[in-house]
Amino acid sequence: MDWQPKYHPQGDSALFADGRSMRPLVEGTVSVGNLAEDDAFYRGRAGSAPDAPYVTKIPTRTADGQPTLKLDERFVRRGQERFNVFCSPCHDRTGAGRGLVVQRGYPPPPSLTADHVHQMADGEVFNIITHGVRNMPAYNVQIPAEDRWAIVAWVRVLRRSQHGHLKDVPAERRGSIEPAEGQP
Ligand code: HEC
Repeated sequence: MDWQPKYHPQGDSALFADGRSMRPLVEGTVSVGNLAEDDAFYRGRAGSAPDAPYVTKIPTRTADGQPTLKLDERFVRRGQERFNVFCSPCHDRTGAGRGLVVQRGYPPPPSLTADHVHQMADGEVFNIITHGVRNMPAYNVQIPAEDRWAIVAWVRVLRRSQHGHLKDVPAERRGSIEPAEGQP
């Protein structure tokens, strides 16, 4: 049991010309279940071209109609939780961009509830999380694709939370809210 004629990982071998016991993967090999071929889901783009347009909405189905994500409360809460873990150190929990890292000198990011982020396609926000942008690092290694989409959903919630209307408040409680100066 202690001694067996077997190869150890990263060991050497006289059998193969390159002297390694481990064999290189055949080029283009993808392990079962790891083929990320759905451009909308894995790249946030509508098509396989490198610069194909971004998908406008979080993709809930593959190109051939198989369900991928379910946009329900659980999904949005997951996005909130992941946002608070990965994004709030810089963007803070409201998305305003005054996270602790920024308070200690990191370049301040723009507000995630601003109009220009609101106008980005969902696929573009996904792509920013995946690859980073200018001073922001990439998160594709730390955050799997499904969670990146959940975070996109939460970024949309943050925007909505900053743009409430009186009609969002249940009718019986509206009386306790005073409209802001000059607003209906
Ligand atoms: C280490 C700090 C840091 C973390 C963590 C971080 N960001 Fe950023 N983010 C930035 C900075 C800085 C910018 C501005 C980049 C620039 O323009 O140089 C930015 C920009 C962005 C933008 C683009 C805004 C624009 O005006 O173009 C989006 C969207 C965004 N971040 C989302 C996220 C999300 C979602 C997460 C979490 C997955 C995240 N960021 C995590 C620092 C961070």
